[in-house]
Amino acid sequence: QDVLIVGGGQGGAQTAISLRQLGFEGSITIVGDEVELPYERPPLSKEYFASEKTFDRLHLRPAAYWQDKAVTLVSGETVVGLDPLAKTARTASGDSLSYGVLVWAAGGSPRRLTCDGANLAGVHAVRSRADIDAILGELPRVDRVVIVGGGYIGLEAAAVLRKLGKAVTLVEAQTRLLSRVAGPALSAFFEAEHRTHGVDIRLGQGVDRLEGDARISHVVLTGGEKLAADLVIVGVGITPNVAALERAGATATNGVDVDLRCRTSLSDVFAIGDCANQINAYAGGERTRIESVPSVSEQAATVARELTGQGRDHDALPWFWSNQYDLKLQTVGLSGGFDQEIVRGDPASRSFSVTYLRGGRIIAVDAVNAAKAFMRGRALVAGGAGVEALSD
Ligand code: NAI
Repeated sequence: QDVLIVGGGQGGAQTAISLRQLGFEGSITIVGDEVELPYERPPLSKEYFASEKTFDRLHLRPAAYWQDKAVTLVSGETVVGLDPLAKTARTASGDSLSYGVLVWAAGGSPRRLTCDGANLAGVHAVRSRADIDAILGELPRVDRVVIVGGGYIGLEAAAVLRKLGKAVTLVEAQTRLLSRVAGPALSAFFEAEHRTHGVDIRLGQGVDRLEGDARISHVVLTGGEKLAADLVIVGVGITPNVAALERAGATATNGVDVDLRCRTSLSDVFAIGDCANQINAYAGGERTRIESVPSVSEQAATVARELTGQGRDHDALPWFWSNQYDLKLQTVGLSGGFDQEIVRGDPASRSFSVTYLRGGRIIAVDAVNAAKAFMRGRALVAGGAGVEALSD
């Protein structure tokens, strides 16, 4: 293959789409370990979980598109090894695929709990269609759900499960929700919202063990409390899938290191998405892994441009979104390392924004039901505006 893409998610699919859009005529194969056509992952914890969207509406392109564009899809297959000198990739079933250029878009795997009982039936991650289908299959017999992790997965799942009438307890190890991605004001707002919607939230507690006779029956917290549970959802982050690249000698610190054109340290091997660690101007010029659809789509376009002689550095403004109940959270920029947060509007009105600053510069904005604040935030973060811009 001229271009071999590892990973059939948003990043892998978008790389192929962008290559064809830019007129690339070489052969393209996407190898992915899931059996479905490439699909959007964000609705898995939202509309697909709530049965408001059928799976076919999640496909990034219909089956005919891949045929028309001569993109070969190899599904249900995992790439387990690379020989960067011979330029071949080895699959779990023993095939060897040769490549001119390899694009690694293998994403991440959900972190699992490591405590006793972590593998009991009824303990689920939320990452793939198969995860959600398994949960939905069990849900009619489920009354009480314990969610471990108060990040996006845990909170979006909690919102859906409350809508479905389940009793939900959410356990977060940190002392506030969304601590990886947001500041205290937003955490407090979402905590209050989820409590109002009936979610029982336990902060500052981890899971000591899971108990049950084959199937989960109880979650024992580090504080000693024992919660009855018919089903457990674990949303405690992801581990980047880069083991094969590391074994092949790629420089990898947190995920695999890439340059601004998404090249790894191995020749003709690119990496994008959740598994790619890239210097980012919006992270103060530090390396960062961004786990978001808009970011991987831009990185895919960066690779496609590079391979069609139109290369330019990746410099996209990071942004994110989350839907919980009737709340639409939109985030622009990366708030990590902020030294000041300014709340504008009244959280009680359920339409407000939080602006994050570092050294007097605006680095990120969270907007809740406030599309205008988000749009304005984009310009302020992109322009590196100072605090005085807020008084305009
Ligand atoms: P996350 O990293 O955002 O949040 C994990 C949370 O679990 C953190 O708050 C952490 O403190 C907590 N935690 C870790 N270990 C724990 C333990 N043993 N007990 C209790 N709490 C623990 O990861 P999450 O929510 O699993 O999401 C996975 C990926 O999916 C991320 O890349 C996320 O950005 C992405 N995602 C994005 C969405 C969006 O942008 N709206 C929606 C859903 C997922």
